[in-house]
Order: sequence, then C-alpha cells, then structure tokens
Amino acid sequence: MLTVVFLAGFILYQWKYLPASVASISFFLPTVRGPASLVRWHESASSCLQEAPVIPVTRKSLWLAIEELLHTELFVNKTASLLSGAVRIPTEVYDVMGPVGEDPRWEAFAPLHEYLLQAFPLIHMKLQLTKMNTYGLAYVWEGSDGALKPLLLTAHQDVVPVDPATISNWTYPPYSGHYDGTRIWGRGSADDKNGLISILAAVETLLEHDFAPARTVVLAFGFDEEATGQQGAKQIGRYLLDIYGENAFAMLVDEGDPIEDTYGAPFARPAISEKGYFDLQIQVSAPGGHSSVPPPHTAIGFLSSLIAAYESGAPRSHLTRGSAAYTHAQCLAAHAPRLPPNLRADIRAAHSSDAALRRAEAALFAEDPALAAGGRTTVAVDVVWGGVKSNALPEGAGVVVNHRVAVDSSVSALKDHAVAVLRPVADALNVTLVAFPDDGDTLFSRREISSVARAGTVTLSDAFGTALEPAPVSPTDSAQWKVLAGTIRAAWGAPHPGLDRALNKPASVQVPLQGEAEPDIVVVPSLLAGNTDTQFYWALTPHIFRYNHYYARDGPADGSIHTVDEVCEAEGFVGMVKFFVGLMLNADESRDM
Ligand SMILES: *[C@@H]1O[C@H](CO)[C@@H](O)[C@H](O)[C@H]1NC(C)=O
Ligand SMILES: *[C@@H]1O[C@H](CO)[C@@H](O)[C@H](O)[C@H]1NC(C)=O
Ligand SMILES: *[C@@H]1O[C@H](CO)[C@@H](O)[C@H](O)[C@H]1NC(C)=O
Ligand SMILES: [Zn+2]
Repeated sequence: MLTVVFLAGFILYQWKYLPASVASISFFLPTVRGPASLVRWHESASSCLQEAPVIPVTRKSLWLAIEELLHTELFVNKTASLLSGAVRIPTEVYDVMGPVGEDPRWEAFAPLHEYLLQAFPLIHMKLQLTKMNTYGLAYVWEGSDGALKPLLLTAHQDVVPVDPATISNWTYPPYSGHYDGTRIWGRGSADDKNGLISILAAVETLLEHDFAPARTVVLAFGFDEEATGQQGAKQIGRYLLDIYGENAFAMLVDEGDPIEDTYGAPFARPAISEKGYFDLQIQVSAPGGHSSVPPPHTAIGFLSSLIAAYESGAPRSHLTRGSAAYTHAQCLAAHAPRLPPNLRADIRAAHSSDAALRRAEAALFAEDPALAAGGRTTVAVDVVWGGVKSNALPEGAGVVVNHRVAVDSSVSALKDHAVAVLRPVADALNVTLVAFPDDGDTLFSRREISSVARAGTVTLSDAFGTALEPAPVSPTDSAQWKVLAGTIRAAWGAPHPGLDRALNKPASVQVPLQGEAEPDIVVVPSLLAGNTDTQFYWALTPHIFRYNHYYARDGPADGSIHTVDEVCEAEGFVGMVKFFVGLMLNADESRDM
C-alpha cells in the first residue's frame, strides 16, 4: 500500500516541481536502467539512497491549500507571534529542583499552559488533554480507525536558565520574544519552544481546515528535559505505556539537529539513536599525615597517574564501513557539491580500499571533530578534587570523568574498559583497585584479596547514578523512515514560484554536481551526541527519530541554543510547521506502519 502512496506522491511531486525527466526517475527508482551517465550516478550514490518526496494522495488538495497558506507573509507573521508569546514566558529549569508542589520554581509553567489555552483554541476544544505531575502535557487527537497505531510527536516546555551575568550581552532581552519581521529572539526560541509551538500550530492549522485523522495523534510535552526529564517525560512515558502498552505507537518524532549546509548541500540529519551517558568517579584514598615526611606518592599523585593513563587509553575514532559516519561520508561524496575532489575520490574508493578509507578518515575527522566523536565513546575529565591544606597529606582525591557511550557499545563494556586500563596502573602503583562495588558480585566488583598491604585504594563508581545505555537504533529500511524522509523532502522549498515566501529554500546552496541529478535536500540518518526526552519512550516504539526541520538562512544553524542571543528565523520556523503538517497527513495515509 505504501508503495502506491509513495509512487503516486513521487509522480505528483514531479508534476508539480520538476519537468519529469528520465534522469530524475532513475534517481528515485534505482532499478530503472538509464543511459550510462545515469547508471554512473546511481553507482556513485549507492550508499546514500534518497527516499522520494512523499506528498499526501487522498488529502492532496488539503496539503496544497495548507502549503499555499504557510507560504504567505500573513501566516509567517501570525506563527512567529505564537512563538514570541511562548518565549515571553520564562520556563527555566535547574539541575537540582525539589518535587512539583514543593519547589515553587515549577509554577513558572502555569502561565505557559494558560497561554497555550488561548493561543490554540481548537486544540483545546477537540483534543483530550491529560496533565501528568501537574505540568506534563499529553494531548490525544483520537483517530477514526482504532486499528492504526498512533503517531507520537514530542517536544519540551522548559528552557535552560539565562546566566544573569550575560543579560547585557543579548541583542534583545532574553525573554522579550522580540520579532523583528525576520527572527524571533530569546531563550527557548530554538530549544525547544519552536518544537512545541510548531507541532501545536500544525495541529491547529489542520483543525482549522476540518481535518479529522484516521490515525490517532498523541502530543507529549515534558517540562524538565534540560534537567534529565525525571519529573516530566519520565512520568508521561509511564502513563503512555500504561494506557497504550509496549510498541503501541507507529513512530515518534522528537527534537533533534536542524538542517545544515554541508559542503554546499542542505543536509537533514534525523537521529536514529542517541549515545549513552556515564559519569565515572575515580576516587583514591591513602594515608594522611604531616607533609614533612611524605611517601613517594600522595593520593593526588596516585590519582594523577591514573588520570594520565586513562586519558591515553581513551578509545580512538575510526571511520568504519557501515558506521553512521561512513554513511555520512558517502552522502557527502554523492551529494555535496563543494566537497574537495580528492576527498570525494577517497570516500568513493573507500568501499574497497583501506588506504583510501584511512585518508578519508583523517580528512573528515580533522574537519569535523563532532563526526569523529560521534563514533566512539568519548572521555572527558571534567571535575577534580583533593587536598585541603598545604602542609597536610591528602587522605582522598578524586575525579569525575564524563563519557558519551558509543551506540555500538554499552555501559558495562565501558566499565570493563575502565578496569582494563586502570588495573595495571593500580598494580604498578601498589594501590588496591575496587571496581564498581555497587554492582554486586559481578566481574567488576570482585575485590582483590587484600591480605597484601597496599599504599592506597582506588575506587571506581558511577558518580551520580545517572548511567544511561545508548538508545536502541531505529531501523531505516522501514515504512516509518520512508514517510519521515519523504516528508522532509516534500516539505522543503516553495510550492510554486510567485508566492510571497520560499520557506527554507536557501539562495546560496544546491549547486548540483556536474552532470549529476541532485536531490534538493539530502536526508542522512545520524546519531545524537546528547540525550533527549526520548530516553523515556523507548518501550513505546522502535521507530524513534530526533529531528528539527529547521533551516537558518542567515544565522547560526542551531539558533545559538543554550547561549546568548538564542534566535529562530520565522521562515525556518514555519518550515517546521509545514513538516509536521506533512508528517501527520502522510502518516495518516500510510497503512504500512
Ligand atoms: C559580554 O560582553 C562583555 C562586554 O562586551 C564581554 O566582555 C563578555 O565576554 C561577554 N560575555 C559573554 C558571556 O558573552
Ligand atoms: C509582517 O510583520 C512585519 C514585521 O512586523 C511587517 O512589517 C509586515 O507588514 C507584516 N506583514 C503582514 C502581511 O502582516
Ligand atoms: C605496597 O605498599 C605497602 C604499604 O605501604 C608496603 O608495605 C608494601 O611493601 C608495598 N608493596 C610493594 C610491592 O611495593
Ligand atoms: Zn531541547
């Protein structure tokens, strides 16, 4: 069934956007044989196959009507005002907060709820709203066909605090929500009130057009994503699991990376997994005493050797065939016009040449440290303590080492790694290693038989009890991925020339590779280095994507999230609304998910 939707959508797309040509058909249908040059293109792009744009079929006229509306200046202004209003309500969360009902700082969310009530009247009339832990929001838009698994769209209501010392550095006050006709300024405009408001604006717009879904749509908005989601998304996740059960949702889309110009091509990078998280505490204890008669090493001295060894033993990054970074590289070679020719040649040759693979690795990782970090478990020694007095031997010293755990690894593999690296050092230093005693009688926690006297003890532990395994990897050979990627491609650009606005369409990119058909926007599955509220939704569906259909024409791609002058471009923001409208319509028509 989806294939029909998919092809029909593709034909419509061709009809509407492009002169139908053999070149573009061979691009979308890789089995079609074309002239030699097209076959060459297909081979070169074989590791970065792009889904065809997916345009609603039965709701085609609705889609076209909404698309026209979205591209008008009036709609852009109206929607920008909705975001401004949400930004003007500070909903800051802090790392350490008491429970809802006790800590008054949570009350900041009440005015936001009142605002949503008046800003989105149809939603509050037609959808069923349940609040979890007072400020968690779950809206249910009941579909007519109960056999279809619901679509889940999520965002978070909270923002990171503004450091008072930086207020004078903001172009406009951080909670002004100032709209200058092009941009909406302020904390939350890019993380994640744009996600919250674009989802709601998409639903409200569909309601204004009398759309009634066949597939239920559930909207879930946590309120402490920036403080690990314990009070918000965790409670919502439990509630949804109770009501709907495991694997009950067709797919989930949450916040993620925006669209970014990459060597001259716009890359959309929905994340199909998230790295894990582990804060390792390495704590050394050793006898204290007067520092006039010191041992060869104090606790701080032991700790220093352990840190040095641990940093040197950190996992290295490699570009391995089949990894996310490798797929990214193949997409660069296939679609990025400004990629240096040597690098393109190396990436293409990397299929079969190890030497080319190593050269591509060196060039790509030097250029893009995030790409290098994405594939490995990272090690960052972030906190250190020890010693209180210049003439007293320290009895203890310690560090916290932050790790982002590679998607193909695990927290327990990381613990093994820490023991493997630190045990020989501890032995050489004549200190006892006690590894993860809280894990019970596992491989890690077996204490050494300590009948032998030692000069000190080093204890490894989970510093704050916040270990998080890497997220399950969402498949990309799925109907869900086809709908997601196809919607991204369909939502990119203007419906036809002559409209006020060309949402998202960048002026400066999209130089096609010579002689090769180019997709407008390249959709590449990626990994998220950080964590989102989706960690509480793993049981609800295996099809979880973290993605912002946001493109900044002029400003910073990520809208300067978490820092001074956070900003969201109005047209890019409306692009997000367009994406969610398309996603709801396409998901509604699909019968394969
Ligand atoms: C804020 O502006 C002051 C003065 O221009 C500058 O010294 C300081 O580094 C800025 N701080 C931040 C956080 O940008
Ligand atoms: C949109 O807003 C801008 C800036 O506030 C204003 O100059 C423009 O006239 C508005 N356009 C419409 C159609 O309302
Ligand atoms: C280890 O340290 C203890 C306590 O200082 C000491 O008695 C012992 O001889 C040391 N062992 C070695 C092999 O240095
Ligand atoms: Zn966020």
